[in-house]
Parts: sequence; structure tokens; C-alpha cells
Amino acid sequence: MISIFATFPPSIARASYNCCEFMDKAKLAGELGKAIDDVSKVAPIAKVGIALIGLGRSGKYFITSMRSLTTVVSLKWAIDIDTQEAQKVASEMKCKCDAKLDAALADPEVRIVIISSTTDTHFHFVMQSLRAGKAVFVEKPLACSIEEVQQAVNLAKELDLPLVCGYQRRTDKNFKVLKKQVDDGNIGVTKLIKVCLRDSPMPPLSFLRTCGGIFHDQVNPALDLCQWLSNEEPESITATGHCYHPEIQKMGDLDTVAVLVKYQSGLVAVVDTSRESMYGYDERIEAFGSRGMLTAKNHMTSTVEVATASGHLLPTAVWSFPERFDQAYTAELVEFVALVNAGQQSDAHKLEQQKMMRHPGVTRAAVAAELSWRLGKTVHLKELDSLLEQSMHERDAKKRKCE
Ligand SMILES: NC(=O)c1ccc[n+]([C@@H]2O[C@H](COP(=O)([O-])OP(=O)(O)OC[C@H]3O[C@@H](n4cnc5c(N)ncnc54)[C@H](O)[C@@H]3O)[C@@H](O)[C@H]2O)c1
Repeated sequence: MISIFATFPPSIARASYNCCEFMDKAKLAGELGKAIDDVSKVAPIAKVGIALIGLGRSGKYFITSMRSLTTVVSLKWAIDIDTQEAQKVASEMKCKCDAKLDAALADPEVRIVIISSTTDTHFHFVMQSLRAGKAVFVEKPLACSIEEVQQAVNLAKELDLPLVCGYQRRTDKNFKVLKKQVDDGNIGVTKLIKVCLRDSPMPPLSFLRTCGGIFHDQVNPALDLCQWLSNEEPESITATGHCYHPEIQKMGDLDTVAVLVKYQSGLVAVVDTSRESMYGYDERIEAFGSRGMLTAKNHMTSTVEVATASGHLLPTAVWSFPERFDQAYTAELVEFVALVNAGQQSDAHKLEQQKMMRHPGVTRAAVAAELSWRLGKTVHLKELDSLLEQSMHERDAKKRKCE
């Protein structure tokens, strides 16, 4: 049998266990990894059946992760409205396929549904899967409306089912080290956080039309990172941006955004995002505190620096998210499987049920950032609901005038 550790050098699971014991889901993943590693000495682990809906760019990295976890997971259904793609994946993974989720939800062998279809489909599939009694892993963002995100977490809580959103940066081994340093107080009081998320290559226009816009697609995971590092919800948000790309401009969206977040503790966070970085995938975090600074740098294609009479030449950054987050994507799946295996009575499950309650807050922050850009002013989170209501009234009034 293939060892989980043979496929993750160095072991993601063991690394999670060693350096992040404060994360119960991560700790569980370590235990699962150890059990699989030592499979000859422990009772066989029942494989967890998975249905995967959405077989595009993100569906592919879930398949890659599943291929390295064949001792613990089994893909039962590959689902996509692109039936050719679904058939192709089904024949490669030796599973069933469909264009719809219904048959997979009726299959008792399916315990987990992974939703990696386009963003505008997430909410519907999350609700449908939870109602069918499945544990749900949904790609980010869970949804673009605060109400929908709230409804989804409420339903998961009511049914006591796991609902995890794919913020894989939380399982990135380097970002986790940075987080632990912050939590251990090694830089003293954290005063400033800088998060840079610049995509490479620019996503296809078909994706940009369904992703909910840059504030929900790119700013949202950056704000989740800020929430993770600060354990706080924003007090106020100021956003500005520009659109250089004519096709993105036609969608009424931006391709370059900067966001300034102020927290009650005094902490300030600066987020910068761009749809296209010409030098490869650019994701960096800096945390500045009263005793020092932490920096998580880009992943480069090699560690070799060439020095000649013309200067020092560094290698390029890795090209895109599948290479940048290969470890994190597998680690998030290992953690999720460990969580589901642990069951509803486990501490990890209870902790995760609390942790998922942060999702409406992250969506509120993304909505506030978008509104700040649209209104051209700072949005205080306590005023968000009245500002949204006001802007809805204005939109309705404009609509009535046009009719
Ligand atoms: N966490 C990350 O790093 C990361 C990276 C990329 C994408 N994502 C997220 O993953 C999701 C998918 O993004 P992508 O880049 O893979 O998009 P994509 O366009 O490459 O793939 C989406 C797939 O969903 C399928 N689909 C659309 N509607 C469907 C429906 N009703 N039923 C079944 N299948 C349907 C499409 O046919 C397509 O194959 C998005 O929500 C995106 O935000 C996350």
C-alpha cells in the first residue's frame, strides 16, 4: 500500500502536527497521516467516498490530491455540465459520472461532496448537499451574498454537518509558520499586516464573468487571511482600484485593487491584488510588530541565484496556483477527510462548527470593500447594513425612473 508520507516529502500531515498543534483539524490530519504511514500496524482505514462537482481548473487539483491519497479517499462521482470532461475523468478515476449532482447525493457511499464548480453555483450545491446529509467542502468563495453565506452556515450548524470553505492559504506550510510566529508573540504586538495576491496568468474571461468580481474572488481570500492572522473582524474598510483590461472593464469589474483595513485593536492591514502578474504567481505576506517583522516570500522555480559581472539573477516565481499551492491543496483535503472521519462527537468537529461562523464576517468585509470602492469613501462595518439598504433604494429608484 502506498504511504501517504511517500507522496508528501516532507510529510504535510506530520508538519501540520508538529508546528500547528493549536489547530485541531491539522492535528487530526497528523494523526491520520501517521496511521496511514504505519498502515501495516494499524487496522485498515475505511476509504471516504467523495463526489466532486466542477472539473475545471480547481477540480483538477482536487483530483491530483485524491490521486496521492488513494489509501483514504475514493472518488465515487465526477460531475460536470461538460459531460465529455465528466466522462474523461470518470474513466481515468474509475468512478461514475453525471451532469447533475442528484444521483451522487442519493448514493450512500458518498460521505463528502466537494464543490469546485463556478462560484455562482456554490450556494445552491452547498444547500442541496447539506440537506442530503453530506459533509461539504466548497471552494472559495462560499457565496457572494452575506445572506446566502449566513444561510449556509446556519444550515450546517442546524444539521451538525462539516462545512469547510477552500481557503487553502490556511494550510500552506509557510503561511502556517508565519501564523504560528504571530500567535507565539515573536514579533510582539502585530501592528501592520500586508497581503499581496497577484494572479498569474490572468484567469480566462469565461471565469471572470462568473466569479463574483475581484472583491469576492480575490479580495475575499486576502481578507480571510487577515482574519486568520488577526483573529479580529474589521472596524472599517477603504478600497480603491482601477481597470486596465478593456474586457474586464466591460463587466463593470476591476483588475487592480488596494484595500486598507482598520481593526479595533489598532491593527492596520493592507491588501493589494491584481488579476495579472507578468513575473509569475505573486503571493506574499508581511507582518510587522513591536519586536520585529515576518515575511513569507514567493515560491521560486529554483533556489539558484546566478551572479556574473552583469549582476545577480534570481530564478522566476512559479507560474500559477496549482504549483504554488500543491502542498496546501492536498493538506486541506487531508484535514477535511480527517475531520469527517473524526465524527460529530469529536472536539475537532465542534471547533470547526464554531470556526465556520466566521464566513459571514469575511463576506461582509468583501462586500464592504466593494461598497467602499463604489461610494469612494471609507465604510465602517457597523454602518454596512444601512449603506447597503440605501444603495439598494437608490438602485431601485433609478430603475423606476428608467421604466
Ligand atoms: N482556492 C483557490 O486557489 C482557487 C483557485 C481557482 C479556482 N477557485 C475556485 O474554484 C471555483 C471554480 O473555479 P475554476 O477556476 O476551476 O473554474 P473553471 O471555469 O475552470 O471550472 C468550473 C467548472 O464548473 C463546471 N460547472 C459550471 N456550472 C456547473 C453546474 N451547474 N454543474 C456542474 N458543473 C458546472 C464547468 O463546466 C467547469 O468545468 C471558483 O469558485 C473559484 O473561485 C479557487
